[in-house]
Amino acid sequence: MPTVSHIPVLVQETIEALAVQPGGRYIDCTVGTGGHAAAILAHSSPGGQLLGIDADPEAIAAQARLEPYSGSCLLVNDNFVNLEAICLKFDFFPVHGILFDLGLSSLQLDSSERGFSFQQEGPLDMRFNPSQKITAADIINTYPESELAQLIWSYGEETYSRRIAHYIVKERPIKTTLRLAQIIERAAGGKRGKIHPATKTFQALRIAVNQELDNLKSALKQASNILGFRGRLVVISYHSLEDRIVKQFMQTESRDCICPPETPVCVCEHTASLKLVNKKVVIPSAEEIQVNPRSRSAKLRAAERIINNNEYYKTIEESDFFAELKSGGWRRPVLLERLKIAYSTA
Ligand SMILES: C[S@@+](CC[C@H](N)C(=O)[O-])C[C@H]1O[C@@H](n2cnc3c(N)ncnc32)[C@H](O)[C@@H]1O
Repeated sequence: MPTVSHIPVLVQETIEALAVQPGGRYIDCTVGTGGHAAAILAHSSPGGQLLGIDADPEAIAAQARLEPYSGSCLLVNDNFVNLEAICLKFDFFPVHGILFDLGLSSLQLDSSERGFSFQQEGPLDMRFNPSQKITAADIINTYPESELAQLIWSYGEETYSRRIAHYIVKERPIKTTLRLAQIIERAAGGKRGKIHPATKTFQALRIAVNQELDNLKSALKQASNILGFRGRLVVISYHSLEDRIVKQFMQTESRDCICPPETPVCVCEHTASLKLVNKKVVIPSAEEIQVNPRSRSAKLRAAERIINNNEYYKTIEESDFFAELKSGGWRRPVLLERLKIAYSTA
């Protein structure tokens, strides 16, 4: 069994933001090496249950941290973009809390053959799930220069995106991480400050290979649907593109009207389904960053599920649901119907 080298980030803050309670039911959408999942299971004991999802089959196979909780947790190798379908398949909903700890684990970053690191020689791979088709090498060696520049700009916010794309296209075929890092370093005119010049391009490639931003947008919506009333959604992100999506999602979903400010009368019919838990984003302490420098860019945001108006009106029509709601229970019947319609093939 591989030794666990990933140090989970903002663990205590995550437990607080999720408001973990004994007997609660939780989903860790990015179970990784199980650091957060183990903490959730410890705090939800006795009776807590956890569904852990990870796109990387190696993460699911190497769960040393979760062994003591094997009776209370279910691990699924899948992409969190399929969250609702997974919950329906395993009859695991509604839940008290859902966690996303985005990005990649130290295990993945440190394993050279996965191709995530520009500091170790490896193939240009970068797939979270190796059964997925497109690799970073496919993008680097086949995309037209303009598309490559656009990708590096929009997913890496790299100022030198055009120059980097031009150098890459001139030097094709490029097969390895260190070769790509050298080419980027030359294109960007050498090292700038503490940050390696390849950082942003590697981030952009990883995002593109794994369709990270689109998957996140879709999964956040599904997570909000799967939460029971007062359930908590907690997301830890590691770069501004992810954090912007999370912030916008939580802000939008916590407002009753999302019409543009110049609209005289509301026409959007949007109703809030979340309430922000923290006004300010939660970041690691100086002590945590000193012990675990990889935590330095982490940002945690949390929101609580509330009853939105549409659901409230439905309760008047559906007496069972109303009774359940009054007793403070979860909104399972309505959710089950909706998920069955959306995902059942039978
Ligand atoms: C930062 S690590 C999580 C670490 C974990 N919290 C722990 O304590 O060990 C992120 C994990 O999310 C997984 N991941 C990233 N995107 C995913 C997706 N769309 N679906 C499922 N898992 C994903 C990665 O494979 C990785 O294992």
